[in-house]
Amino acid sequence: MRMYDLIEKKRDGHELTNEEIQFFINGYTNGDIPDYQVSALLMAVYFQDMTEEERAVLTTAMVDSGDKIDLSAISGIKVDKHSTGGVGDTTTLILAPLVASLGVPVAKMSGRGLGHTGGTIDKLEAVPGFHVEITSDEFIDLVNKNKVAVVGQSGNLTPADKKLYSLRDVTATVNSIPLIASSIMSKKIASGADAIVLDVKTGAGAFMKSLDDAKSLAQAMVSIGNRVGRNTMAVISDMSQPLGYAIGNALEVKEAIDTLQGKGPEDLTELCLTLGSQMVVLAKKASSLDEAREQLKANMENGKAFEQFKTFLQSQGGDASVADHPELMPKADYMVELPAKEAGTIKNIIADDLGTAAMMLGAGRATKESVIDLAVGIVLHKKVGDQVEAGESLLTIHANQANIEEVKEKLYQSIEVSTDNVSAPSLIYDIVTE
Ligand code: URA
Ligand code: CA
Repeated sequence: MRMYDLIEKKRDGHELTNEEIQFFINGYTNGDIPDYQVSALLMAVYFQDMTEEERAVLTTAMVDSGDKIDLSAISGIKVDKHSTGGVGDTTTLILAPLVASLGVPVAKMSGRGLGHTGGTIDKLEAVPGFHVEITSDEFIDLVNKNKVAVVGQSGNLTPADKKLYSLRDVTATVNSIPLIASSIMSKKIASGADAIVLDVKTGAGAFMKSLDDAKSLAQAMVSIGNRVGRNTMAVISDMSQPLGYAIGNALEVKEAIDTLQGKGPEDLTELCLTLGSQMVVLAKKASSLDEAREQLKANMENGKAFEQFKTFLQSQGGDASVADHPELMPKADYMVELPAKEAGTIKNIIADDLGTAAMMLGAGRATKESVIDLAVGIVLHKKVGDQVEAGESLLTIHANQANIEEVKEKLYQSIEVSTDNVSAPSLIYDIVTE
């Protein structure tokens, strides 16, 4: 087989066979096929797309390029949740203990990564003592015992995706539905879950800015998952404005604590109930979405979800009293309000600009080496559709450095107050099951 022929075939719009896709992934992973030929193939895929069968085969080949996590020692149906990423997205911190409180095993492997705020692990490390450096045996024992545990990424998962992603980054081929879908799904499948719930975001703060693109990506990922034998569904949710009120690590942990007790922001609570019900049904712990939702709501109100969260923190060395006393987490030196310049209705809170502002405060990593400040961030007081008086605070900035004026300027540019009638955007746009 020759790589040249594969490039030509895809360039001319033909379907690659299973053997051809496996040949290219194996050859690229072990260094036999050079970057320049893979670049050409990626660009051909960018323009010619891939069939559903090709996408599934590509995903499986990437999964097979490295280690796979074996969760078979955990009893029950393991359901994983993945978000395509947004600003102030605290859902994992809430969903993990929440669905675990209904007996759904949550075996979460998580990373740190780059972004506006830290990843799930960074956020959890705002709880003094909490750590994810546990062995795979400890991880499995904890999930069997408590139904929930989080471990840091280890092993050599999907090396083909790592190489391809770096190459796509420098060849203008990141933005391709078959390549994004196979990249995300290969990592989820290699992590060992039996079923997968995807939260595909759309809007200014999302990877997929338009609803049509978000739907295409959701359909592509659901099709791959189901073709390779993992029950998969997707929720398409709004990321035009940040989710909830808090953006920042310790601030989001506090928001998660509130939400687990049924006192969280309306949008964040609703998204958690929507995603959580799907997880519970996929795990066969409820027979309908309505039944699952009722059970989840009950556990927010009767304290079971909150207790589950404390057990989870404690079992991984964390100080569980943080759940009752969030002030034990890192706190910023300065709290600065952002007063509205005029009265009106909030028309726009551009999610990615707020993410950037949080990052300027130090809440996220710009490079792998950056050190995160767990205390800093932003807490909104208003969301799109809310009324505001002149001089009323739009948000509070939690800061440790002296760049507050610069951040304030950025925030004023990102929040639009209007005299028009504006209503809150929809939160859930669609549910994709096939
Ligand atoms: N996230 C991924 O993991 N892969 C992509 O290709 C794009 C976003
Ligand atoms: Ca939030």
